[in-house]
Amino acid sequence: MSEQQRNSWTAATEELGELNVDDGGIDTTVPHSARIWNYWLGGKDNFPVDQRAGDEYAQTFPGIFELARSSRAFIGRAVTHLAADHHIAQFLDIGTGLPTENNTHQVAQRANPRAHIVYVDNDPLVLTHAEALLTSNLEGSTQYIEADLRRPDLILERARNLLDFDQPIAVMLMGILGHIATHDQARTIIGDLMQGVPAGSFLALYDGTATNPDLLSAQEGYDDTGAVPYKLRHPDQITAFFDGLEVLPPGIVPIHQWRPTTADPVPVDAHGGIGRKP
Ligand SMILES: C[S@@+](CC[C@H](N)C(=O)[O-])C[C@H]1O[C@@H](n2cnc3c(N)ncnc32)[C@H](O)[C@@H]1O
Repeated sequence: MSEQQRNSWTAATEELGELNVDDGGIDTTVPHSARIWNYWLGGKDNFPVDQRAGDEYAQTFPGIFELARSSRAFIGRAVTHLAADHHIAQFLDIGTGLPTENNTHQVAQRANPRAHIVYVDNDPLVLTHAEALLTSNLEGSTQYIEADLRRPDLILERARNLLDFDQPIAVMLMGILGHIATHDQARTIIGDLMQGVPAGSFLALYDGTATNPDLLSAQEGYDDTGAVPYKLRHPDQITAFFDGLEVLPPGIVPIHQWRPTTADPVPVDAHGGIGRKP
């Protein structure tokens, strides 16, 4: 991160620290997904309400820190695989989260400096930081859409102005589908998004799984805090998100088993993979 970027980041955070629910739609009284995620990842862009909610969660499920780290590592491996091995140069990353290390554009542009990335999120805090920090190199591009995943039509409409829809696009839904209340609704959204991108495009996705009683119990407590609830799903339901797509090896698997770079990765309760639109 350059000195200029660091200053922009600090200024954005200080400005946001003075905001409340009436200014710009950022509510600092209710814990928020992107900010709690940032806290678990060791970031500084969160408020006391997020830290409290994050700590309470971790008391019931201490593995949440490893799950957050492992998820970011999965994103890195998935984006590298798409850019380097499948020559994908366009990424539509929906549910961006607050900028951290190895953001999608940095990973993709390391493999292909000409990669174009469009980030999508519905959180004003994410938007403010993304505009300050998610800046591209000269050959590629990084752009940002403020939009809600529940309106895939609007996301596609705006993305059409920013990406070339005659060329394959990697649609990324990383750790966001739990915010969609029902499985059917999530499948419809994925179907709409994949219908809108050309053949040869990819879906890259992971989500937390309902495979650990402590994680389920922590999630129930979180859902009671007033934050937007997060629905943990069965691994079979996550696999079903890829129906109609050609799933790449090694399949839809626990993310620590997806093309691991270490011999003995720490197991986590999240499933994911990549599928190609035929
Ligand atoms: C748990 S974070 C995941 C961040 C990142 N993708 C990762 O895996 O590290 C979920 C992100 O989804 C965003 N989000 C939640 N609901 C959303 C919605 N309905 N539309 C768009 N973004 C949403 C949150 O603001 C947050 O940035």
